[in-house]
Amino acid sequence: METIKAIMTRRSIRSWTTEPVAETERKTILEAAMNAPSAADARPWHFVAVDDPGTIAKFTGMGGTEMLAEATWLVVVCGDPSKETYPGFWPQDCSCAAQNMQLAAHDIGIGCVWIAVHPLEERVRLCREVLGAPDAVVPFALLAMGVPNEVVPPDYRYDASRVHLNKWP
Ligand SMILES: Cc1cc2nc3c(=O)[nH]c(=O)nc-3n(C[C@H](O)[C@H](O)[C@H](O)COP(=O)(O)O)c2cc1C
Repeated sequence: METIKAIMTRRSIRSWTTEPVAETERKTILEAAMNAPSAADARPWHFVAVDDPGTIAKFTGMGGTEMLAEATWLVVVCGDPSKETYPGFWPQDCSCAAQNMQLAAHDIGIGCVWIAVHPLEERVRLCREVLGAPDAVVPFALLAMGVPNEVVPPDYRYDASRVHLNKWP
């Protein structure tokens, strides 16, 4: 798929079949994550991949996350500020990785939704607890994936009023 086409047709998918995400697909998505840009190329991230249904079930009670029960593969993107060269950029770096994952998943036919974690302290705590992540690492976003069981059409959102030429407004 062309990059622009992938960007313009990607939608959040929140319903999945029981078919597992293949190993090669998992690898492709994680490779895309780690190929993301990061400040000073510091790569201040870790990725906790979860395919155990019992562990996935532990994330279904966060409020509006019941659909995760259908997901067959989750990746929790975690920030690791200790790996930064210039402190403070880790959320942006992790966002780049997460967006790469969403686009890579879409490109290969895997449905994905980004579930907010950081800066929601309760979700951060739950993720730390479930995953056994150390305090020095910040669970940042949970990407739920699987083989799509719904079709969500593209949504064209270009808004000329948000573009400012040379100077505001
Ligand atoms: C930072 C961030 C946090 C999000 N958190 C959630 C979430 O907690 N639950 C959820 O169902 N979707 C979540 N989403 C998905 C958004 O709701 C979705 O991207 C938005 O509605 C636009 O729809 P689209 O992804 O289909 O284009 C999140 C997306 C982002 C980027």
